[in-house]
Amino acid sequence: MRRRAILNCSELVTLAGPMRPRTGAELRDLAIIPDGAMIVQDGVIERVGARAEIAIGDAEVIDAGGRVVMPGFVDAHTHPVFAGNRADEFEKRAEGATYQEIAAAGGGIRSTVRKTRAANENDLARAASRYVWWFLRNGTTTIEAKSGYGLTLADELKLLLAIQTLGPIRTVPTFLGAHEVPDEYRGRRGEYLDLVIQEMLPRAAQLAKFCDVFCEPRVFSVDDARRVLQAARAQGLGLRMHADQLENGGGAHLAAELGAATADHLEHTDASGIAALEKAGVQPVLLPGAVYALSSRRYPDARAMIAAGLGIVLATDFNPGSSPTPSMPMILSLAATQMKMTPAESITASTVNAAFSLGLGREIGSLEPGKLADFVIHDCTDHRELAYFFGIEPAYEVYIGGERVYSKHCAA
Ligand code: NIG
Ligand code: FE
Repeated sequence: MRRRAILNCSELVTLAGPMRPRTGAELRDLAIIPDGAMIVQDGVIERVGARAEIAIGDAEVIDAGGRVVMPGFVDAHTHPVFAGNRADEFEKRAEGATYQEIAAAGGGIRSTVRKTRAANENDLARAASRYVWWFLRNGTTTIEAKSGYGLTLADELKLLLAIQTLGPIRTVPTFLGAHEVPDEYRGRRGEYLDLVIQEMLPRAAQLAKFCDVFCEPRVFSVDDARRVLQAARAQGLGLRMHADQLENGGGAHLAAELGAATADHLEHTDASGIAALEKAGVQPVLLPGAVYALSSRRYPDARAMIAAGLGIVLATDFNPGSSPTPSMPMILSLAATQMKMTPAESITASTVNAAFSLGLGREIGSLEPGKLADFVIHDCTDHRELAYFFGIEPAYEVYIGGERVYSKHCAA
């Protein structure tokens, strides 16, 4: 029986509220308790309240030192398992080449696939655990983690198994076999999809919680994505989609038709796509890091999505090509400066709403009795500083299930 009391929080940002994704004006309500305190029993939150209301008893005290305490970020869209990186392509893009030109010439996702196939599960897990520490240092306690750089049965399973080994961060595995058409299937997209559906999906379904597809006119069409996602649903997987990232190809409408959990990216989604998502209760996952790192100016229309009543989510899209950042604070900065989201809206989108998008809204994402004690002490006194300062790592201490997994001031 381990009992801990977290005291001396300038703001205890609880995000307490209805057990569903927050929409509209609710996004700005962080349910902050000034000078708040929290009791954690065996890794689960027992009580939250004002300091004066909370009895400490014999609990071990964690002194937040007058800092902000809030739920760990839940990063609902990442690609953290891959070999090598693409600093070479980044340099080419700085010299004027585009992401699509590099992909058409055999680079991009396919270049990471070639390197990832050559690596074994241990190498991949080692590379990914380095990134896991980057996530933790930025205050992220749960990541959704996609496969998608293997693109053979054996290599996709290798990635999903590597994801299973990651810790101490919480992971939610997603199968992304339809991420790209691999070299050996160029010009035979339909045959590759047969392989994904008939051979990969039944096995991947035992290791993953969700299935995702890169639905984009020059990659997988809406019809291709429908085939894969319907088969995935039949295997018991939840559905996510890369939709309308580079063009408006009808991806949001497909996500709505299928009642997917999320439609991700949405840079090119129009008003009819947004209305369809709202009607179907699909959560948008916005990834401004990919817009920034690709030097695009086309950010998704977050304000229209909030006005339409969508349960908006923000995530990093951490990957070696379009978004090489694990930093949720950087995403909050981009959301404020480029998409005109307030810091409070961004915090809701990257904690409780992200948790609901992963089917974990009852376990994580807010600091409420009964939830797991995944929380972060940030080195600031006002939550707005998280979006305001950029290029720093604000996390001071990070706790998962009530245990400290990272501390800025000494080894964990
Ligand atoms: O979300 N667009 C597809 N997938 C990733 C990019 C992956 C890569 O470039 O390696 C994305 O942007
Ligand atoms: Fe992605």
